[in-house]
Amino acid sequence: MNTILTTAIDKLVSHRPLGQEEFVAIIEGNSVELRNELSLPADRERKQYFGNRIYIRGLIEFSNYCKNNCYYCGIRCGNQALCRYRLTAEDILSCCQKGYQSGFRTFVLQSGEDPYFQDEQLAAIVSAIHWRFPDCAITLSIGERSMESYKRLFDAGASRYLLRHETADAAHYVKLHPASMSYKNRMQCLKDLKEIGYQTGCGFMVGSPFQTPEHLAKDLLFIQAFKPHMVGIGPFISHRDTPFSGCANGTLELTLLLISILRLMQPTLLLPATTALATIHPEGRDLGILAGANVVMPNLSPAHVRKDYSLYDNKSCTEAEAAESISSLKERMAQIGFQIVTDRGDTPSVF
Ligand code: 5AD
Repeated sequence: MNTILTTAIDKLVSHRPLGQEEFVAIIEGNSVELRNELSLPADRERKQYFGNRIYIRGLIEFSNYCKNNCYYCGIRCGNQALCRYRLTAEDILSCCQKGYQSGFRTFVLQSGEDPYFQDEQLAAIVSAIHWRFPDCAITLSIGERSMESYKRLFDAGASRYLLRHETADAAHYVKLHPASMSYKNRMQCLKDLKEIGYQTGCGFMVGSPFQTPEHLAKDLLFIQAFKPHMVGIGPFISHRDTPFSGCANGTLELTLLLISILRLMQPTLLLPATTALATIHPEGRDLGILAGANVVMPNLSPAHVRKDYSLYDNKSCTEAEAAESISSLKERMAQIGFQIVTDRGDTPSVF
């Protein structure tokens, strides 16, 4: 093993910051042995802060309208093959009700960037949920908005926000997004969210088109400096009705390696085993947990709209992906030694 890689592993395991070259060495060194070498200490760290607890978040995909045209995404505005839908406030509240009865104490409201939902209406929805379910956390994942808008939604009762940065390399960002979108604005949004006081999540796709180990190293450097509360990562999966339809998918193996790296970089991180990971491999979610993830996000959206929230092809929306089968999810997690818990699962204060 070369010396950069050995030093990089030492630093990671002892929670010291790494440099660009060291992250590249780990990413390029991806192998079964390396994944085992990192998943063991990652598992130990996770156990120290979270025991065998896995947090569940109920995902409500309330609109698949989007004004953006990201090259990788199936709900991009240019995709005319998609059937568009919007849930009403009542629909959303009944999803929460159903979720509450199943034990969910965090609701994640996710949508495309849908101009129909202006601040007033969204704030009303957030405060209605907050009022009806005062013991629940509300997470928003609705894209780029103004500081003022973020503040208003925070004041209405949303306390967490997920906005994947997608890539921390400005030139790579340009290759994934149309000219109407900007890397600078996305990063500014993340800073704004944190400044307002949201528990903030960022994230990126693994194996997105044109991505290099250097780009991934930059993602990790960004995360090391930004210190988000949550990081969502999953393999890129091509969608047939996008410009990236013929592109290769990201791999299970590299995603698992990155999950272990992230757990070691920031032991208290909330790290989901994502739907994309469950889609790329039948045991993707379990393997993600074993590599260091500690969150799963079952789908609470009404069953008939789930297929239309198609970010990528063959999105997993069966079995453990669906909130109805929470008991089978519990069983599966128990089989690998973990326990689904229903408390809000805020980041431990030992951050
Ligand atoms: N493959 C994997 N992930 C995708 N996303 C969007 N399109 C794809 C795709 N084709 C991810 C993006 C986005 C999140 C909601 O889903 O990272 O931020």
